[in-house]
Amino acid sequence: MPRGGNMPVVRRRANALCVLMMLNVFICVLMGVSWNLRNNKSNRHKVHIPTERFWHQQVVSKSFWNKEQQRLDFIYNPNVNSVLSSDSPIELPDWLNDTGPLNPCEPDYRVPTQISDYNSLPQRFQDFLLHMRCRTYPLLINQPHVCDEKPFLLLVVKSLIPHFERRQAIRETWGRAGVFANRTVVTVFLLGNTLSLDHFPDLLGMLSHEAELHKDVLQWDYRDTFFNLTLKEVLFLGWFSQNCPHAQYILKGDDDVFVNTLRIIDFLEGLSKNKAKDLFIGDVISKAGPHRDRKLKYFVPESVFEGLYPPYAGGGGYLYSGELALRLHNISRQVVLYPIDDVYTGMCLEKLGLVPEKHKGFKTFDIEEKYRSNPCIYRSLMLVHSRTPQEMLTIWPWIISPELDCQ
Ligand SMILES: *[C@@H]1O[C@H](CO)[C@@H](O)[C@H](O)[C@H]1NC(C)=O
Ligand SMILES: *[C@@H]1O[C@H](CO)[C@@H](O)[C@H](O)[C@H]1NC(C)=O
Ligand SMILES: *[C@@H]1O[C@H](CO)[C@@H](O)[C@H](O)[C@H]1NC(C)=O
Ligand SMILES: *[C@@H]1O[C@H](CO)[C@@H](O)[C@H](O)[C@H]1NC(C)=O
Repeated sequence: MPRGGNMPVVRRRANALCVLMMLNVFICVLMGVSWNLRNNKSNRHKVHIPTERFWHQQVVSKSFWNKEQQRLDFIYNPNVNSVLSSDSPIELPDWLNDTGPLNPCEPDYRVPTQISDYNSLPQRFQDFLLHMRCRTYPLLINQPHVCDEKPFLLLVVKSLIPHFERRQAIRETWGRAGVFANRTVVTVFLLGNTLSLDHFPDLLGMLSHEAELHKDVLQWDYRDTFFNLTLKEVLFLGWFSQNCPHAQYILKGDDDVFVNTLRIIDFLEGLSKNKAKDLFIGDVISKAGPHRDRKLKYFVPESVFEGLYPPYAGGGGYLYSGELALRLHNISRQVVLYPIDDVYTGMCLEKLGLVPEKHKGFKTFDIEEKYRSNPCIYRSLMLVHSRTPQEMLTIWPWIISPELDCQ
């Protein structure tokens, strides 16, 4: 026994040290937990207006979108609502003064004066901001009977008028899954207008022929651009609640994704009632925020938006319930249009208190090169981006051919 005589003292010290360390760890854990709890609470972005005049002190955001959202939050706050509808006139705080045009679909010329760097923003921002409040555009081509037989699955494809070939490839492949699955599957294509202003040839004659032939085209009269995809989303939700409110599920995606519709139907048939109600799955992106590099497609300047994005499912394609679509339609009034459509849908979900769920079957960033021509890989996934019409016609037979054994 080396250093025998010292042993007891050393051991006692060691024990004391041990206890102290454990106490420390315990305190750390406790602090961590309570900090987390506090954070979770403050993350809910609820605007409480419990006492009168409280809102006069609200810090007004310097970013235009956020300021517009603060306005809507104020207007739709239930406490304020009850005050507004009561007889006593309510004095609105200065920061809520709204000098925009009465008709939200007239260009809002106060915007340039409210955004310091407006004149140096890319043209697409100026276009977006001037028309940000307008959410109603005429429906030029409707299909009022497309949902007469209640769809189990409604396939909603964001397309552009010139993409005739992509739409036809979808019709001949994953858009006709109903034939194989013994379920009602309905496909609709969402279109805006392509203008000569944006150097598009006039394809309206061909489009009306296509719409008549296939009865699956919806078209609205607005300029179909990247920043107006949010408009496409909002207009679709409005159309859905009017024309197809009983569809059980919706898959919404781009016209360059391949969807394994049979796998999706299988998945949906296995869902519990509880899970089905709030279903929203896709390739979910969390903790993202706006890009500040002007050269990027997703660039958004500080003068327009500040803060992080809520979790959202990449716009390439996501799957949700028809019931949830009705609630999204309802809540979308309370969310200011944002120029990136999938982020906007994430914002609406957040307002509903829901979080989209990541599903590994959604490959919006494609799959590894070495698997791209492996037929069995496509059997297991739900959606992959991107595929050409020719590729869709190659892949679809792999999905439906009974001879192909992938066990
Ligand atoms: C808002 O309106 C009130 C009364 O209409 C006016 O006194 C006030 O100066 C306005 N504030 C701003 C920031 O325009
Ligand atoms: C198709 O589904 C219906 C109702 O769900 C059922 O009655 C019918 O037997 C099914 N047909 C086939 C071929 O599975
Ligand atoms: C969106 O569409 C409207 C209506 O056609 C148009 O005025 C506006 O410029 C478009 N916005 C963008 C960003 O293209
Ligand atoms: C729409 O929202 C209102 C309140 O803003 C609510 O009373 C109503 O139930 C909602 N409808 C749906 C379908 O969620």
